[in-house]
Amino acid sequence: MWGGRFAAKPADAMQAINSSIEIDQRLWRQDIEVNKAHAAMLAAQGILTAEDEEKIQAGLDQIAADIAAGKLPMSRELEDIHLNIEARLTEMIGEAGRRLHTARSRNDQVATDFRLWVRAALDAALGHVEALQRALLAQADKHADWAMPGFTHLQTAQPITLGHHLMAYVEMLERDRTRLLSAQSGAMSDCPLGAAALAGTGFPIDRERTAAMLDFTAPAANSLDAVSARDFALEALSALSISAMHLSRLAEEIVLWTSPQFRFARLSDQWSTGSSIMPQKRNPDAAELIRAKAARIGADFAALLSIMQKLPLAYAKDLQDDKAITFSAFDAFELCTVAMKGMIDTITFNREALAAAAGAGYATATELADWLVRELKMPFRDAHHVAGAAVKRAEELGLSDLAQAPLEEFQKLEPRITEAARAGLAVERALEARASYGGTAPARVREQIARWKELLR
Ligand code: ARG
Repeated sequence: MWGGRFAAKPADAMQAINSSIEIDQRLWRQDIEVNKAHAAMLAAQGILTAEDEEKIQAGLDQIAADIAAGKLPMSRELEDIHLNIEARLTEMIGEAGRRLHTARSRNDQVATDFRLWVRAALDAALGHVEALQRALLAQADKHADWAMPGFTHLQTAQPITLGHHLMAYVEMLERDRTRLLSAQSGAMSDCPLGAAALAGTGFPIDRERTAAMLDFTAPAANSLDAVSARDFALEALSALSISAMHLSRLAEEIVLWTSPQFRFARLSDQWSTGSSIMPQKRNPDAAELIRAKAARIGADFAALLSIMQKLPLAYAKDLQDDKAITFSAFDAFELCTVAMKGMIDTITFNREALAAAAGAGYATATELADWLVRELKMPFRDAHHVAGAAVKRAEELGLSDLAQAPLEEFQKLEPRITEAARAGLAVERALEARASYGGTAPARVREQIARWKELLR
């Protein structure tokens, strides 16, 4: 394709490092689409004859059918998907095929193909995230009022409901969807096609037309920027990295919750693995691999960012590696979202273990402090001190639950404490009390679940 200036063929290792066909053959649909739009525009502008255009369109349709049927072997000598398709076209229709590359370059071609690919991949990612939100919402609905411990520092803090905990992820995933959507409508809405190698072209092309045919908002206004920008891919990878981080936190919780130490939850057989040596094991491998893949998705973002930040304008071959990185991140993200949905759909929770843990660790001590503030108008700092002393006393008495301590013990610390204050230390009462907007009270959680059912309808 570019041999005119050369006498010798490239070294084998040169071909190995330079060829990208193993990776970028995934762009074939986009490359066909871009070729077809370009050919139609060239013909409309009188740059190609109608006869040549017809041959090109028919040839491209045939190539698409052949690739879809797995009948078109790709060649490494032909470097990449663009040259493979063009060579095949020329083989099929002769000279007209060699005219298709008029008024463009692989630089604007790949920039356009790749935008189209990322745009479609973001659609798929959005669908997967939404499916996971639905799965979480369904589990939250079933467990809206189940008590469990809420943690800070992974130490029991205050009782919460399982529904509340699961809905926290629905919120995170919604922000992820907003970021994925914004990646889709941001840097990627301009069409690079027609920027040619870097400087535009001398042919009277119609860039508005190709931009519209390929469903872009407008042609990119600066040809140098058009061929060398990859911030659209970075935006997508950044949104994926953040969402994968959320999936990884949930995965981490699944690992903890399903451990024999916690016993909060059990993964279904479908989503557990055994050990070849320890017959009792049910390992959460998928959750662990989500953690690992989230790390890699973040690394993919960092890799592309690092490639980009030292490139002078305009095109440089470093840009070819954007695809391996981006494909791998989207592939990993899809696996993560699908596996997480599978786990969430089929996970079961242990009501007794959750409830027992919710009351342990003096998780309702804040209730006592709040009561002293509310009923005795004690300043919160003083109330905190009294409640702390109550915990200390319960510990001395060997009681694991503050609500079990006899009233006299509380009254030794503060004579005005009543039976009502003690009764308020029960986990259910503590949950009901957290009824501020966004709080864990079952009534509030149900409100949120109802709102989300409406939003995801
Ligand atoms: N395969 C190349 C890539 O992905 C296509 C562009 C080649 N352009 C060039 N100037 N060599 O970047």
